[in-house]
Amino acid sequence: MVYLAFLFFFNLISCFPSSHAQNTDLKLPLRAVNLGNWLVTEGWMKPSRFDGIINKDLLDGAHVQFLSTKLNKYLCAENGGGTVLVANRISPSDWETFRLWRVNESYFHLRVLNKQFVGLGNQGVKAVSNTPTHSETFQIVRKDDAPNRVRLKASNGFFLQVQSETLVTADYTGSSWDDSDPSVFNIAIVNTLQGEYQITNGYGPVKAPQVMQAHWDSYITEQDFKFISANGLSAVRIPVGWWIAQDPNPPKPFVGGSLKALDNAFTWAEKYGMKVIVDLHAAKASQNRFEHSGARDGFLEWGDSNIDETVAVIEFLATRYGGSPSLGAIELMNEPWAPDVTLDALTKYYKAGYDAIRKHTNAYVILSARLGPADPKELFSFARSLNRVAIDVHWYNLFTDMFITMTVQQNIDYIYNQRSSDLDSWISANGPPILIGEWTGEFGAKNGSMEDYKRYTKAELDVYGGATFGWAYWSYKCEENHWSLKWMIDNNFIQLNKHLTNL
Ligand SMILES: *[C@@H]1O[C@H](CO)[C@@H](O)[C@H](O)[C@H]1NC(C)=O
Ligand SMILES: *[C@@H]1O[C@H](CO)[C@@H](O)[C@H](O)[C@H]1NC(C)=O
Repeated sequence: MVYLAFLFFFNLISCFPSSHAQNTDLKLPLRAVNLGNWLVTEGWMKPSRFDGIINKDLLDGAHVQFLSTKLNKYLCAENGGGTVLVANRISPSDWETFRLWRVNESYFHLRVLNKQFVGLGNQGVKAVSNTPTHSETFQIVRKDDAPNRVRLKASNGFFLQVQSETLVTADYTGSSWDDSDPSVFNIAIVNTLQGEYQITNGYGPVKAPQVMQAHWDSYITEQDFKFISANGLSAVRIPVGWWIAQDPNPPKPFVGGSLKALDNAFTWAEKYGMKVIVDLHAAKASQNRFEHSGARDGFLEWGDSNIDETVAVIEFLATRYGGSPSLGAIELMNEPWAPDVTLDALTKYYKAGYDAIRKHTNAYVILSARLGPADPKELFSFARSLNRVAIDVHWYNLFTDMFITMTVQQNIDYIYNQRSSDLDSWISANGPPILIGEWTGEFGAKNGSMEDYKRYTKAELDVYGGATFGWAYWSYKCEENHWSLKWMIDNNFIQLNKHLTNL
């Protein structure tokens, strides 16, 4: 107890001298790059990080469906949960989809649409419990030479079986893998998450601390700050997760060590004359259901009841880095999702987070615009009522059919026309400073030529260069080349020179 209390207290002490007069030298607009997938994992950016995990396709949040080979029907949580399981559906949808909570490499809880967990009832298998206990734990037994053929062993030691289309029980003792066996299912994995929760819980408490530490030590080093600075950029935006505030002993499965890495980033930034935007990318309970929010199973649950604990994370960061000459800004929360995160809860949080920061530093505070059906301007008047507050919008020509069906030239024109006029109208309306906090070289018309990428990124640089607070490329390193600014620079796919303020 004494030891833990000491560590906690130690973490609250700022590494840097405190001063309210900091950041007056901030030179806007910033030219930044995101250090994505460093302190908050995003599997797609480097899939091999997951390779050492046993059953690496069965991670937390995997959405799975079970087809009974005997009935050729899908297992279904009737009504989406709250009652029995049946096995009578021809095509799978939400009620037939189960989200895994991984206990260890072969034991799992199964969470249904209405958030209950599958467990044992008196008359068959049910999804009624809101908390998973022993009775809501299943071993997924895979066939050696056909891993998508599975049987589910319940906590009573018996296998789940489909007695009929409307009766699923846990009382089977057979062991064949025949199609006619009522305990055999084909499992389909229809969606997966590969975030910080998945990688740490996937490796487990013994291996995860080693694997994560090795990643933090090697993925971003001082050499990278040297490279970023030498290429004329003036800042880095660093995504962090809520668990960093409890370093070195964050709640399981998260592991300690990311705070030391962030300390290093501040030291290197200072050495190379750069600024750091600390970005709370992953808020507890998930503000957007993405893997990069640290979500366990993809349910968005952040709301009013999480405001205080999220403000505490912000205050921790402001206390620790508020006195650093390299602190450029603190971003309160990345990409909250509308309408689930309501404007009311968000502005309440943003105000409380702003106040917490102002107790420690006069640094800029960044408010991320909501994704989903929300207008970035909804926060403008609120932001203007505060001091040194910028709005962050993320601009990708991706993710919707519109950009994918556009030609290269249409994608480029969209930047020069639509994006440009949006930005101009925000700025001329005397709005708050704007940060284009995420954009990238990849775009809807994939597989363009080198010349296409040069022209597309030139359009972005031309237009986003007008953003009053600055911009930040997503990301510095990524296995998908066009998403990696380092690769784009090294291979001459982007020409930054004319667009920099720091040279
Ligand atoms: C996995 O968890 C189950 C259920 O708690 C336990 O019985 C089993 O021993 C564990 N297996 C491993 C390899 O830790
Ligand atoms: C783009 O290239 C990839 C890899 O070379 C290929 O698999 C894909 O089909 C191509 N897509 C288009 C739209 O040409």
